[in-house]
Amino acid sequence: MSKDTVKIGIIGMGNMGTGHAGHILEGKVPRMELVAVCDINPERLKPYPKLKHFESSEKLIRSGLVDAVLIATPHYAHTTIGIDALSHNLHTIVEKPISVTKYDAQKLLDAYKKAKKKNPKLQFCAMFNQRTDPYYIKIHELIQNGVLGRIQRSNWIITNWFRPECYYRSGGWRATWAGEGGGVLVNQCPHNIDLYQWLCGMPSAVYAIGGLGKYHDIETEDECCALFEYPDGATGSFITTTGEAPGTNRLEIVGDKGKLVFESFKGVNSLQFYLNTVPTSEYSKTTKKNFGTAECWEVKIPLPDNRGEQHIGIKKNFVAAILDGAELIAPAEEGIKAVELANAMQYSLITHQRVELPMKAFEYQKFLGKLIKDSKFVKKVDKNVGPTDLAGSVK
Ligand SMILES: NC(=O)c1ccc[n+]([C@@H]2O[C@H](COP(=O)([O-])OP(=O)(O)OC[C@H]3O[C@@H](n4cnc5c(N)ncnc54)[C@H](O)[C@@H]3O)[C@@H](O)[C@H]2O)c1
Repeated sequence: MSKDTVKIGIIGMGNMGTGHAGHILEGKVPRMELVAVCDINPERLKPYPKLKHFESSEKLIRSGLVDAVLIATPHYAHTTIGIDALSHNLHTIVEKPISVTKYDAQKLLDAYKKAKKKNPKLQFCAMFNQRTDPYYIKIHELIQNGVLGRIQRSNWIITNWFRPECYYRSGGWRATWAGEGGGVLVNQCPHNIDLYQWLCGMPSAVYAIGGLGKYHDIETEDECCALFEYPDGATGSFITTTGEAPGTNRLEIVGDKGKLVFESFKGVNSLQFYLNTVPTSEYSKTTKKNFGTAECWEVKIPLPDNRGEQHIGIKKNFVAAILDGAELIAPAEEGIKAVELANAMQYSLITHQRVELPMKAFEYQKFLGKLIKDSKFVKKVDKNVGPTDLAGSVK
């Protein structure tokens, strides 16, 4: 590997793969060179006549042409192609979600651990581009610095993911158990689920209601209203859908020392912080006013009116991690948490059961296998389809 450039190949040249290619070819990611593109559909490679073409990820991974790969295929292949790339000592960025199930994410991360023993500098990054958003970074900083005090309650209404029927028809894998492994929780929301656990931690139990194909002709979930219980007694809720417009993005986090409210609507973003001059728990014990509340100050937090470098920022950081030893913004190891949380919400909304975390990984694997087996929609999309290790029952 050259010391000053990362030669990369992109696997999966659909919507997102072409977006990533555009960023690199337009020079927006200094020190990253796109040398190869790979897709099982050769038509998708035609717009890149100057680059090396591969119709199989195996051949690209073994070509010796690249230091790194970016995997932007449908979700199940993230696990299988990711394991192949890492075990061939290639730095890897995987699109979200890192895998469809906790079980597969564990296998992927085990492969990374094994590869890292041979090459401790091997980098594995998740495309959680929203972690570069200055608003979410500020909220994280305020929580970490203890400005809010102990978190009591958090609520995220994130329903600005509207998708019409034609979107679901644009790829045979979309919103099928066999091809995608879920709906809004697996495709649109991994960003928010990752951010939620990054900001507020992992809940200890989940209860969800929602709908499978409630607003669209699909078999997977397009609505989820989940309640979270946290180990320290805090509560949370997470509400999402692809069937509502105009959508909402409103995150409210309440702590003993105050409240944060982030809202984004039609390109206008705001972050309000309400500071209790006396922590609520202390005020409650000391006040003599039956209907009083502590004096509260509204604090304006100055922030740039943009949403950060997003996908370009994650790729720049990946290059910096490889060449300069920088810390990754979104290490793939953290991606398993969003996968587990999505699995828990899906399981709960389908079975109407309260789910305790950590989940039993193979139980969910078998549950998903049964959904695929019983599916009236797609049963097979490509050879990488489906959760792993269910041979005989699914594949
Ligand atoms: N980070 C983001 O903001 C963001 C946004 C959209 C999509 N995504 C993610 O990107 C990934 C791809 O989504 P998309 O919308 O681009 O899908 P898409 O259907 O437009 O593209 C997927 C491409 O992968 C190809 N492909 C399928 N299996 C393959 C294999 N085994 N080897 C090589 N190529 C293969 C398909 O032929 C297709 O061209 C998904 O993980 C999705 O969640 C991320």
